Amino acid sequence: HAQDVTVTLDSDAEGHKLDKHLFGQFAEHLGEGIYGGVWVGEDSEIPNVRGIRTDVVEALKAIRVPNVRYPGGCFADEYHWRDGIGDDRKVTVNANWGGALEPNTFGTDEFYDFIEQIGAEAFISVNVGSGTIREAADWMAYMTADQQSSAGQERAANGHPEQYEVRFLGLGNENWGCGGNMRPEHYVDLMKRHARFDRNYNLSQTGERAMERVAVGPSDDDTRYTEAVMKTWSERDWSWSIEGLSLHSYTVPQWPPSLPSTEFGEDDYALILDTTLKMDERIATHSAIMDKYDPEKEVALVVDEWGVWLAEDPGTREGFLQQQNSLRDGILAALNFNIFARHGDRVRAANIAQMVNVLQALILTDGPKMVLTPTYYIHQMYLPMQDATLVPASFEAGEYTYGDMTLPGVDAIAFRSKDGVLHTALVNLDPHEAREIAIDAGARGMTRASGQVLTGPNVNSLNTFEAPQTVVPKPIRGRVDGSRMTVTLPPKSVAIIALQ
Ligand code: AHR
Repeated sequence: HAQDVTVTLDSDAEGHKLDKHLFGQFAEHLGEGIYGGVWVGEDSEIPNVRGIRTDVVEALKAIRVPNVRYPGGCFADEYHWRDGIGDDRKVTVNANWGGALEPNTFGTDEFYDFIEQIGAEAFISVNVGSGTIREAADWMAYMTADQQSSAGQERAANGHPEQYEVRFLGLGNENWGCGGNMRPEHYVDLMKRHARFDRNYNLSQTGERAMERVAVGPSDDDTRYTEAVMKTWSERDWSWSIEGLSLHSYTVPQWPPSLPSTEFGEDDYALILDTTLKMDERIATHSAIMDKYDPEKEVALVVDEWGVWLAEDPGTREGFLQQQNSLRDGILAALNFNIFARHGDRVRAANIAQMVNVLQALILTDGPKMVLTPTYYIHQMYLPMQDATLVPASFEAGEYTYGDMTLPGVDAIAFRSKDGVLHTALVNLDPHEAREIAIDAGARGMTRASGQVLTGPNVNSLNTFEAPQTVVPKPIRGRVDGSRMTVTLPPKSVAIIALQ
């Protein structure tokens, strides 16, 4: 029978800010993440603006994507930006991802056109693994230098006289692995040179929009890069700095990824959610090391690759990392957002992998068809969390057990959105039982509690091109009594409720 849970809010406490960049996206030259998913070319019959598909742009505009990380991933450390500008594009081979031909028809200027169309900022990862410092510095000049400079003139000749902005600059990608298998000592020496010489010449980019350099950091629980980068940072001088440390951590219970994305049972459901919840401890481990060198929390932990990594869908091209996306994966996304929120004083940006057609995608396309996944709808429901303030909450989560696994029964956070409205984000992990949740807002009275809930017939329910509405948000209402709200949270569901 359903267990009751009371969530007690400390409504008067001033919690930390929940940065909108926690909802960042990642679009790599990988499979159909760019080609087909974003870029169809001007001559395509699929409606597009300058080659960029309109349906995808409209869907992304609706979830106010704060930034897009580009061009990789492992791809970034083998990318030579000159191949992708101007009239003469080079056709290369995407060695990391299925050996696909890379036409380079989508390059720097097309990327900026795309993010301008969706209203997002740029997270550019430079090539540290196989490129030179000069190449990276020249790319920065191409993007950000004054129009009067030669680099700026080249950009203008390619159609964009105005300087671009680089909001986040990734100094390499996984240089402990696909980015060159570097010892941490070797990486930090390179990192310092990139931090110094990959200059942003766009001097109008200040304040909230100032560029943040993100160094490569840990993979999962491995703390070697965390230690090395943070120690090096603590010994910095006037000539360089970094503002972020990357963490890559996928939900993948076994490697190589082999769990199916469709038609799985409760065993996989419980295992995957149990695995994803390790994100909390993982962030705590790296945060503790960061605290040692940076007690003021100047350097952000940037979880710039996260999400569930499953077996590739049967019939899809090997190396394209195409998987379906179920209600379970939407629940998983919500659990991660709640974890990021609780660690939001240190975790100030995150990028789900990846935006379209790759891994835990928000959007799937097939030719002219497009479908929005449960993970997309979670992003839409969590919009009020962008730039909100955390309201500390305490509760006894109860339990959901399966076999020998014991998971929390529910999860909850609360925050005050930018416009001052108190919200709660609730997850019921139990796939069988509803939960009665009470929110106790202290002295704060309320008159109305309404929001949206995402659930579906089964934990493995999907949205397909044929049936795109199987897992979509529905209205939910709470019962209000003074400063207390109660709501019945259906099994396997996520709800965001505004308490007014
Ligand atoms: O997102 C897919 C790949 O996963 C990225 O290219 C790489 O950085 C990570 O290993």
